[in-house]
Amino acid sequence: MERGNLKEVAEAIKDAKIVVALTGAGISTESGIPDFRSKNGLWSRFNINEYGYIDNIISNPAKVWKMLRSLINDLKDAKPNPAHIALAKMEEKGYLHAIITQNVDSLHQKAGSKNVVEFHGNFREAICLQCRKIYPIEYALRQEIPRCECGGLLKPNAVFFGEPIERDVLIKSFGYTENCNVMLVVGTSAMVYPAAQLPVMAKQNGAMIVEINEEPSMIAGIADHSFYGKAGEILPKLASLL
Ligand code: APR
Repeated sequence: MERGNLKEVAEAIKDAKIVVALTGAGISTESGIPDFRSKNGLWSRFNINEYGYIDNIISNPAKVWKMLRSLINDLKDAKPNPAHIALAKMEEKGYLHAIITQNVDSLHQKAGSKNVVEFHGNFREAICLQCRKIYPIEYALRQEIPRCECGGLLKPNAVFFGEPIERDVLIKSFGYTENCNVMLVVGTSAMVYPAAQLPVMAKQNGAMIVEINEEPSMIAGIADHSFYGKAGEILPKLASLL
């Protein structure tokens, strides 16, 4: 099943003007953070239709915030793993120009990556659903039902199902996607749109698509190179060839 030549990928990266990585929850599982759709993933423990949608937090904030607290707690002590570190090193050496991440765990930034586009927002902040005022997440965690000074409900500054992607994030992501020569697609099932559209757009613009995942993802069909295994093992090998 695996179709990949790491040396060819390294050569393409060296010749590329723009290299982009699109990452998903799979890049953080080796940091101890469960992903969403693997067998012990988050959605196997929490019903996505009761916790994943913006309507859920509006209609039952106490219940959803209870799940969010445990998630945010898991993130607190999580450390970047060799996969995050490899991408940060590639950026430092000029071989990676942007990371577009679906993750809200801030581990790319903790690993030292500078240019990180948080496609689904972040869990560092909370935002008011009424007046859009932003607070540090700690302000929200202190309240059972987190509320803004204006009285509005707070949610983490992350994108829930049923919410749009921030306009400037979309514009930035499309810009990198349409102009990259190589896109590394790491640790994502590529099942959630519009993030899953990005590799397709990159391919249409002539980019080499490199899939790095524990199992074939939804973009396996358009990948020029596929490596199935742990991102924490594959990415350091790739970085060592650069
Ligand atoms: N190395 C490589 N791949 C891995 C690893 C690992 N160590 N661990 C897990 N994976 C793979 C899994 O096989 C799976 O295909 O990562 C992928 C993770 O897929 P999902 O759990 O669907 O996560 P993701 O693609 O990021 O989900 C997208 O869905 O629920 C929403 O907003 C949430 O951003 C998330 C979006």
